[in-house]
Amino acid sequence: MIIETHSDVTEAVLSEIERAPDERFRAIMAAAVKHLHAFVRETRLTEAEFQKACAYIATLGQLSNASHNEVVLIAGSLGVSSLVCLLNNGGKGQRQTTANLLGPFWRTGSPPTANGASIVRSPTRGDPIFVTATVRDLDGQPVADAEVDVWHASGEGVYENQDSAQADMNLRGKFRTDAKGQITFRSVKPAGYPIRVNGPVGELLRAQGRHNLRPAHIHFLIYKPGFKTQFSQVYSSDDPNLETDAQFGVTRALLGRYVRHDGEPAPASDVKETWYSLEHEFVIEPGEAKLPRPPITGKASGEPPVSVVLERIDLR
Ligand SMILES: [Fe+2]
Repeated sequence: MIIETHSDVTEAVLSEIERAPDERFRAIMAAAVKHLHAFVRETRLTEAEFQKACAYIATLGQLSNASHNEVVLIAGSLGVSSLVCLLNNGGKGQRQTTANLLGPFWRTGSPPTANGASIVRSPTRGDPIFVTATVRDLDGQPVADAEVDVWHASGEGVYENQDSAQADMNLRGKFRTDAKGQITFRSVKPAGYPIRVNGPVGELLRAQGRHNLRPAHIHFLIYKPGFKTQFSQVYSSDDPNLETDAQFGVTRALLGRYVRHDGEPAPASDVKETWYSLEHEFVIEPGEAKLPRPPITGKASGEPPVSVVLERIDLR
């Protein structure tokens, strides 16, 4: 097609997409092109702005490697990851769900761990926490024999894979739900942590005066044949950044009650002073049991990365 006007461009691209035999490909690409062209028209995107956008997208790829994914990070920073999660869970977005973002730090091969045991595998600073998680189906019945992978950052906000000082698989464990649909374990209360800001994500946040912190949380991955595999994160109810999570992950269903106990008898006799308890319930839906592709495969060597914390400020 010879292009006469700017609207011809859209028509030409859409008619080429029609040649694709795959129906879903046609639907996704036609919608993408319609919205993308409409966006260019609405914003009257200048040539300089277009060149800048292309450079940003190239940088997203260049900064991604085996231990960091800048593309996933910007998808989260723009709320896209959360939107995809909420539209694909809770009866396709019809009701609340305990599903959440997988995040960048799930590893396969987490050590099988007995209920009640600790996942602290090398000395780790932080208050002791005792966690009980219950898995139920849509009818509220406990789901027994589900595999539940657990992982979280230390009391200093660092995952073991980022920190060669922590033992391999520290603060990670794989549990199996009992007849009550429960797993229990001991760990240390995690701290919130900053996401990396040395690339396009950092520029995006700085332009808006946003901080780069994620509120403290524990990750869960629940796997049981016959049910849609669920990834989740339970956020710490006492974290100051719940309303301003840099990844827009905090939902009402995942506000966890991390209850502080001072000097009360703890479930373990070596715990004398401050400790925390957390009880949370997950609801899983019928569907395909499929593990995700692990975003990372191993542990970093050397010093943990220097973390940069941006403050939330008013720029206007
Ligand atoms: Fe995390």
